[in-house]
Amino acid sequence: MTARSGPVGVAVVGCGTISNQYLRNLTSFPDLQVLFCADLDLERAKAQAAAYGVPEAGTMAQALARPDVEIVVNLTIPAAHAEVISAALAAGKNVWTEKPLALDAETGGRLLAEAEQAGLLLGCAPDTGLGAGLQTARRLIGSGRIGVPQAALCLMQGPGPDRWHPDPAFLFQRGAGPVFDIGPYYLSWLATLFGPADRVAAVGRRSRDTRVIASGPNAGTEFAVEVFTHFSALIEYERGPVATLVLSFESPLSRHGFIEITGTEATLALPDPNRFDGELRLRTADATEWETVPATGPADGRGLGVLDLARVLRHGGSLRAPGELGLHVLETMEAIERSAAAHAFEPVRSTFGLPAALEANWDPHARTLPGAAS
Ligand SMILES: NC(=O)c1ccc[n+]([C@@H]2O[C@H](COP(=O)([O-])OP(=O)(O)OC[C@H]3O[C@@H](n4cnc5c(N)ncnc54)[C@H](O)[C@@H]3O)[C@@H](O)[C@H]2O)c1
Repeated sequence: MTARSGPVGVAVVGCGTISNQYLRNLTSFPDLQVLFCADLDLERAKAQAAAYGVPEAGTMAQALARPDVEIVVNLTIPAAHAEVISAALAAGKNVWTEKPLALDAETGGRLLAEAEQAGLLLGCAPDTGLGAGLQTARRLIGSGRIGVPQAALCLMQGPGPDRWHPDPAFLFQRGAGPVFDIGPYYLSWLATLFGPADRVAAVGRRSRDTRVIASGPNAGTEFAVEVFTHFSALIEYERGPVATLVLSFESPLSRHGFIEITGTEATLALPDPNRFDGELRLRTADATEWETVPATGPADGRGLGVLDLARVLRHGGSLRAPGELGLHVLETMEAIERSAAAHAFEPVRSTFGLPAALEANWDPHARTLPGAAS
């Protein structure tokens, strides 16, 4: 909690592809005030500021020098995450970062320690767990509808983001690939439902060492593939459940957002963990049809985690998408990659406190702070 009141000042660092969704949402929440857009590419920062009515744009150093910026929203590429988070914490700013927290768990642990020492908050994407889909699943599982959770089956497969991203090389480098880029959605949801992971076994492969950009101004450019692009993984959770995951950029057949939780009494099909909304489906052993369960809760999209962080800053409480969960997911992803390389089970040692569920009336568009901008 801070002594300040009123809307919380935000600076966005990294004004690329995903900044559109963030800026659209962050500028619509009355408890936030987006004050600054920063990027290495100053023209890009200026263009995004102009497009979303943000008053100023410039370098990260300029953003960090502003006393009215209380949260830095880090939307840079994974290789720059640690450097940006560290600089923002050193400047006394709270941080929301896109995933992954860092390229390796050791660095992620150091960043959490820096935040704790400075008395600052560090939240980590994904924030889809604050959306209607997972919040509804938590309520349903908590009510005992599926019995005791036993297992999960998760499938994310497609031909890869080189098909649509205008600048996709980073998605095939260390810190990305299907596990580090898309894995956080599935692994965060599983960890929220099952608790901490205990150990992991995985195999991985890659069909080719280069790919070609398919869209945008650089279409036709060849780039190197540095990571495995298909993983099959098994995870054992401390409390007993197990998960089977296929995470692949190698499949002509696209199948996203398949996540089923099997309990002793019923199986629950969740919506895509890369989304905030969707419907759930439930099926017992005797049923011949799925029962549809509508998801209720926020469906606003990326930025809910930043808003949660801002409200915790003013009102107190704990983050719903904390850095500790981001670190545990990072360690789990590292274990998947290590296991695929070593052909052996790998332990996951870090742990985290289960984020509290959202109150049923949690409204991103409510004005909860005095003098909040209209
Ligand atoms: N693209 C998506 O659909 C998507 C979805 C969810 C999450 N993400 C995550 O969001 C992050 C950004 O992804 P993107 O697709 O927007 O990437 P992008 O390449 O489109 O944009 C990244 C931007 O960050 C800037 N940048 C890089 N290093 C910087 C630094 N040190 N200081 C200031 N600016 C810097 C770049 O100039 C660029 O404008 C990644 O962590 C990614 O995992 C992306």
